[in-house]
Amino acid sequence: MVIALGSDQGGFELKQEIINHLNERGIDFVDYGSYDTKSVDYPEYAKKVCKSIKDKESNMGILICGTGIGISITANKIPGIRAALCTDCFMAEATRLHNDANILALGGRVVGPGLAIKIVDTFLDTPFSNEERHIRRINAIEN
Ligand code: RB5
Repeated sequence: MVIALGSDQGGFELKQEIINHLNERGIDFVDYGSYDTKSVDYPEYAKKVCKSIKDKESNMGILICGTGIGISITANKIPGIRAALCTDCFMAEATRLHNDANILALGGRVVGPGLAIKIVDTFLDTPFSNEERHIRRINAIEN
């Protein structure tokens, strides 16, 4: 499993915490930036992570901006991308089970690192339910 990571300045610090955690877990990742706290435009990083998933260079993505909102709005414009902004573990589990979300969006100014890491683990460790009603609804999103 390879995880694509992207953030703007509002998500940079939390992304570094997540990078440390992924390294501890031995999970491969590619960091598409940004690489410091300089002000940047989050759509650029959302698009890079989405492209990585669409090109099958990554299996899933984690996108972080200040709120998680702008970066998830951007990602969800791209066909085949299902980005879920999660603020707790219930949302992270449900969006994997029900929506087969392929991107976790987080707000670096919303959740602290302890909770964020739990959300990341829940998201990465929960498989899609593969239930017919959820497959039907996901297909309806795409169509
Ligand atoms: C940047 O200041 C901020 O607007 C961005 O990180 C994000 O919260 C947008 O949705």
